Amino acid sequence: MRIPFVAANWKMFKTVQEAFLYAKEFAPVVKDITDVEIVLAPPFTALHTVAEALRNTNVGVAGQNMHFEREGAFTGETSAGMLVEAGAGYVIIGHSERRTLFGETDATVAKKIAAALSADLVPIACIGETLAERERGDTLAVLDRQIHDGLAPAVDPADVSKLVVAYEPVWAIGTGRTATAEQAQEAHAHIRRRLRDQYGEEAAATCRVIYGGSVKPANTRELVTQPDVDGALVGGASLDLNAFAEIVARSRRDTV
Ligand code: 13P
Repeated sequence: MRIPFVAANWKMFKTVQEAFLYAKEFAPVVKDITDVEIVLAPPFTALHTVAEALRNTNVGVAGQNMHFEREGAFTGETSAGMLVEAGAGYVIIGHSERRTLFGETDATVAKKIAAALSADLVPIACIGETLAERERGDTLAVLDRQIHDGLAPAVDPADVSKLVVAYEPVWAIGTGRTATAEQAQEAHAHIRRRLRDQYGEEAAATCRVIYGGSVKPANTRELVTQPDVDGALVGGASLDLNAFAEIVARSRRDTV
């Protein structure tokens, strides 16, 4: 049975002080929820502070991006090793905002996933189609390409269980327009089929595939109860501590 995985992507929100206060207040609220893997992804400036605030709790910390090189003359970039040193155990890779606003490609995503895995960071690899791609009926083909070019070259069979795949339809991010439970399940089942083709039944069954795009407390349950939806990557709603804690609670397998 896959353990549900729920992560807060704060994007470019929260000062160090705001992030610290959130982390301090959040940890006690979710301390008894041991059947969900819970992660906060603060901006880089707050990452170390949040990691320190969450030390010895059941809440992990993720970077929102990283560079694939170990070090070098790459102004503005952060390596996997630097994230680990700052206290991260996870890293979001290939978010659609990185792809559309900062020119990331499947090729750079593959390099980043490989570098994250070799630094012992759990990659949260984002894939998903744009509205135009969905309307053209290309959704599954886009997912195929992103898996084939972005994930498969970087992930060995032994690493599949460490990988978290986030299906984030671009048209559902920050728009208030959530994928229906059926749309999410269709995409997630397809992703798992492709993982099965690539890595075999057993390995594919261990990989968490989470949904992102306008997740709120009110729509969490219908999404996470789909057979191939293993949790959520939450943007806007995660900025509010109570809303995010509610999403975590509603992502437990046994709640009704
Ligand atoms: P929203 O939850 O704000 O739609 O953002 C989703 C997202 O991009 C998470 O990575």
